[in-house]
Amino acid sequence: MKYFRFSSLMVLMLISFFVEAKETLSETAELGKAQFNVCLACHSQALNPAKAPPMFGIQNRYKRQHGSQAAFVSAIGSFVESPTLEAALMKRPVRKLGLMPAFPLGDEVLNNIATYLYETTFDPPCDHWRQALKSPGKDGHRRQVQGNYDKFCK
Ligand code: HEC
Repeated sequence: MKYFRFSSLMVLMLISFFVEAKETLSETAELGKAQFNVCLACHSQALNPAKAPPMFGIQNRYKRQHGSQAAFVSAIGSFVESPTLEAALMKRPVRKLGLMPAFPLGDEVLNNIATYLYETTFDPPCDHWRQALKSPGKDGHRRQVQGNYDKFCK
């Protein structure tokens, strides 16, 4: 009896572990997650050299700029539909990689993708930052990358 209680407790603990490990997304964000695959061609943080800034930093920057989810979603949607230098919040990647091509995917798909980008939690791009720290760069930017690396990757 004692053994039985112990093993069912273990099973419960295991179940709650997996439930917690799986991210809970809204239905809209779940759709966006699949549609986001097209973006990973450039925004995958595994790419070396990078073709685009990792989404970890983009999400952070857009959340700082736009207080509400609605404003975040709308800003991402309109940038992706027609990127411009003026609208870009991150000027450095534009200088280094050029402006991203337009993806006029339609309001619904853009809304799904942007909702996913708002809700999900991205892993910190430690390999990307490690790579960036190896190449020479301006001191201010280096310090920022080093700061992120120390905070999230150590
Ligand atoms: C062909 C490569 C490529 C693809 C595919 C791509 N991007 Fe980008 N993206 C870039 C590059 C390069 C930048 C950095 C320069 C810039 O901001 O335009 C960027 C920057 C961004 C930014 C930040 C803009 C800012 O304010 O500075 C957002 C948001 C973004 N991409 C979203 C997306 C989404 C969503 C998709 C998929 C629908 C996507 N990208 C697909 C190359 C790409």
